[in-house]
Amino acid sequence: MNVLVTGGAGYIGSHICAQLCACGHTPVILDDFSNAKPDIPARLQQLTGQRPVVYRGDVRDAALLDHVFAAAEIGAVIHTAGKKAVGESVTDPQLYYENNVHGLLALTKAMAVHGVFTLVFSSSATVYSETNPVPYREGNAVLAGTSPYGRTKLIAEWILKDLAAADARWRVALLRYFNPIGADPSGLIGDDPAGVPNNLMPYICQVAAGVRPELTVFGNDYPTADGTCERDYIHVSDLAAGHIQALEYLAAHAGVLEVNLGTGQPVSVLGLIETFIKATGQPVPYRIGPRRAGDIPAYYAAVEKAKTVLGFEAACSVEQMCCDAWRFAKNSYGGI
Ligand code: UFG
Repeated sequence: MNVLVTGGAGYIGSHICAQLCACGHTPVILDDFSNAKPDIPARLQQLTGQRPVVYRGDVRDAALLDHVFAAAEIGAVIHTAGKKAVGESVTDPQLYYENNVHGLLALTKAMAVHGVFTLVFSSSATVYSETNPVPYREGNAVLAGTSPYGRTKLIAEWILKDLAAADARWRVALLRYFNPIGADPSGLIGDDPAGVPNNLMPYICQVAAGVRPELTVFGNDYPTADGTCERDYIHVSDLAAGHIQALEYLAAHAGVLEVNLGTGQPVSVLGLIETFIKATGQPVPYRIGPRRAGDIPAYYAAVEKAKTVLGFEAACSVEQMCCDAWRFAKNSYGGI
């Protein structure tokens, strides 16, 4: 099947493309390359032996979408394109609503026009209200969005649920990602954000590689065991595998599936730094700084539904995530 992957040259999208190829599917990439390196298609070719068709442009561009759907026999769409930094969404909410909400509306409109109704959507753990007990469980949890970014994902979930309620042809998987880190074990693709990294693991890697002098830990006065925020870090290759399982599920089920993709294991900021240092042998100088706007203290996934419904189980350890992230960083930054 030809699968359109929006944001397919990005961090998560590129790992999804690699796994689509490994499963005999053909990824078709739509990406504006605003947060992706131009050599990703070549790297995917080196990794998979298959050079993906790439359309460069914005997912809100209706004419481009029309062209893509007319040119390629698309069987399903995986929508990962979007803005994703919690802190940035607090300072520039307009950017987030425009990209994430308008982008989804343009995409689903084009899909319906071209008779494509199968969609795997990159949602987020940040759709859950922080008032929910941990682990966050699908079903009757309170959904509120913990930041403007989280609310764009929640609004997108509502849009997709409303579309499916109005037209029974829709088959939608809302995959609520926890914190994807790590890289493909080949070291060819990974998280290489443009500019200063917003996320913890790419920042750790750049400090370990000597690109930046030190890491700032955003707050150590949270109500957690060591005072730093706890997250559920999942290997990006495990996460990508979840998308293939979601596509298989949707081949047999109409309607909307909401499901967490995480490991169920909370790890603190200091815990991740220590594991990285131990697993890679690289020093990571850090200092404690103030809290970051929009962060919440601790959350992790309930993983039972993913296992029961999709047969999904995250396989990689946090050590593995650190080693794979570092292998990619060394290749990218020529580390020590
Ligand atoms: N952190 C630091 N220093 C840094 C960067 C991050 O201490 O330089 C801390 C943050 O304050 C937070 C933790 O590391 O406590 C994780 O932060 P990330 O930015 O790596 O990840 P977030 O949990 O904020 O958000 C990520 C993605 C979102 C996604 C969410 C789901 O960026 O897109 O996970 O849990 F929705």
